[in-house]
Amino acid sequence: MITMEERNVDAPEAKQKATRMRAVVHERYGRPDVLELRDVDVPEIEDDQVLVRVCAASVNPVEWYGVTGPIFARIGGGLRRPKITSVGADLAGRVEAVGRDVKDLRPGDEVFGTGSGAWAEYAPAREARLAVKPAGVSFEDAAAVPVAGLTALQGLRDHGEVQPGQKVLINGASGGVGTFAVQLAKWFGADVTAVCSTRNVELAWSLGADRVVDYTQEDFTKRGERHDLMLDIVGSRSFFQCRRVLTPEATVVPIGGPMTYRGLGPLPHLAGTILKSKGRSQRVKFFVAKIGTEDLGLLAELLEAGTVKSVIDRRYELSRAGEALAYLGEGHARGKIIITP
Ligand SMILES: NC(=O)c1ccc[n+]([C@@H]2O[C@H](COP(=O)([O-])OP(=O)(O)OC[C@H]3O[C@@H](n4cnc5c(N)ncnc54)[C@H](OP(=O)(O)O)[C@@H]3O)[C@@H](O)[C@H]2O)c1
Repeated sequence: MITMEERNVDAPEAKQKATRMRAVVHERYGRPDVLELRDVDVPEIEDDQVLVRVCAASVNPVEWYGVTGPIFARIGGGLRRPKITSVGADLAGRVEAVGRDVKDLRPGDEVFGTGSGAWAEYAPAREARLAVKPAGVSFEDAAAVPVAGLTALQGLRDHGEVQPGQKVLINGASGGVGTFAVQLAKWFGADVTAVCSTRNVELAWSLGADRVVDYTQEDFTKRGERHDLMLDIVGSRSFFQCRRVLTPEATVVPIGGPMTYRGLGPLPHLAGTILKSKGRSQRVKFFVAKIGTEDLGLLAELLEAGTVKSVIDRRYELSRAGEALAYLGEGHARGKIIITP
């Protein structure tokens, strides 16, 4: 058990009491069953970090790549073995201890955002990557938000520059990013077409989509209707095919691509989309989501107001993190997958 410390204490050794915790680790790359639950030291925090007692974490494709280790993920992550053995980013929990440069958070505060090694009982997190969790929002709902919610928000607002009344096409509307994207696009006042499979059609309607295309029944690139903005979350069609349903001035925001176990993952699709758009009237704007307090705070407000909800597909205990990751790897999660310590 960690003792709660006063904030801004000077002696580093007083910041946190060393203790042990359960954490998911991977010593090598491979299928999700390389994940192990270990008894390890509670991590030290840096001056701009807080130690979060994790109440819920969630799963993103970034963990799939970090653990399975396709070539592109090993560049920077460790060529033969992972440099960082802890796993997990999205989290929600209670602040347990704070570093000396932390300004606004105090022990006991309920927060959500991203940390290092969130699939654990405790995780260090930078204050700049956290926001206060509204009391009325559950830890699980909050843990579902950070990477997926911010990607949807920034993809629509900052890179897609979505405007009220625009026709927005969301390819991959039923996954982590997609479920937030449909709701946020509606909040921005757009007319939304959601692409998903048969079993998720009702979900897409319930999130507010104006039109739902079941990709198992119909090819969305052959429907004729034109869109001003496309959030391409799954990359199931080429840029040239997608052009058929885009206005000449449309913006395409490619977010992901086919998930693979080896090789280059979504990179060929993303690079192909950017290259094929050269000399065309439509703009392609790839980006990587930025995790920050301000946007997390905006999403917290929308969650608290009920404007946006987290769609949670499955919940796994920490000891079953490998199963959670394997399920994500199948590519058909409906909303988010939660991990609880
Ligand atoms: N650029 C960034 O900053 C950023 C941030 C986060 C994620 N990403 C990337 O975005 C992608 C999606 O992430 P995510 O968290 O949303 O993944 P996810 O939750 O695993 O997405 C799963 C969803 O994809 C849908 N799907 C699968 N094949 C489809 C198809 N052919 N057409 C339409 N939908 C299909 C599935 O629906 P069905 O079951 O109905 O098929 C399922 O609901 C990943 O490639 C990830 O790496 C990028």
